[in-house]
Amino acid sequence: MARIALVTGGTRGIGAQISIALKQAGRVVVASYAGNPEAAAAFTAATGIEAIKFDAGNYEESLAAVKDIETRHGGHIEVLVNNAGITRDSVFGKMSRDMWDAVIDTNLGSCFNLCKATFDGMKGNKFGRIVNIGSINGQAGQYGQVNYAAAKSGIHGFTKALAQEGARYNVTVNAVAPGYVDTDMVRAVPPDVLEKIIAKIPRGRLGTAHDIARGVAFLTADDADFITGSTLSINGGQHMY
Ligand code: CAA
Repeated sequence: MARIALVTGGTRGIGAQISIALKQAGRVVVASYAGNPEAAAAFTAATGIEAIKFDAGNYEESLAAVKDIETRHGGHIEVLVNNAGITRDSVFGKMSRDMWDAVIDTNLGSCFNLCKATFDGMKGNKFGRIVNIGSINGQAGQYGQVNYAAAKSGIHGFTKALAQEGARYNVTVNAVAPGYVDTDMVRAVPPDVLEKIIAKIPRGRLGTAHDIARGVAFLTADDADFITGSTLSINGGQHMY
């Protein structure tokens, strides 16, 4: 039976390409979204991939969503991609506690929530592939992103710790650290700032969502069982870590 995959934030941007790549790899894919039903409906119409709405940053909603998926599909989720992420960029002096909480809950709390909901099922099946989407800015820091850099850096620590617990059950836990990728999130960066960032990318361009998705497909393959606790940086050479 085809393995069930869940991609959070899987209907737009990088997540949408990840959902498509996992479908192409033969997975039964469910993509979650939190706030854009029109984009989700268009994504499902274009790809045939099921989209469900829940807030990955909310613990109860995440547990309920996983239970619902597993009941309807008659099996455990065995491939999980924690991709959901937001930015609330601001210089530290102007960053509110709400901007901190929103980014920590959505970007890092979601990894806890979804891993909590799926890890036992993966362990029981002696198969699991978890990929957490970190960021170049979690590795290197970034001006105006104390909240985001902390959350993404936390993801890298989370990944290495959970990888140690999953290994004996063939549950691998890895991170992908994208650089600047041509998505709505990056297009929201002021153009003059973005221009300076692109000038520092050795490959000379922004990444594409496909550049990231192929890394996720690689790490979630059935025969990728010896790769765990690693971070795959996909950033055009901008930061070598
Ligand atoms: N290094 C040093 N100084 C910087 C700087 C940098 N990287 N960026 C801005 N500054 C300086 C500016 O030159 C300016 O100085 P002056 O007042 O002396 O001119 C000062 O900081 C304030 O900058 P802004 O005028 O831009 O201030 P702002 O309050 O309007 O905006 C900001 C601040 C929100 C941080 C804005 O600069 C910004 O959006 N920067 C980009 C942040 C970024 O890269 N976000 C990534 C989003 S994509 C993503 O996160 C995906 C991923 O994983 C890669």
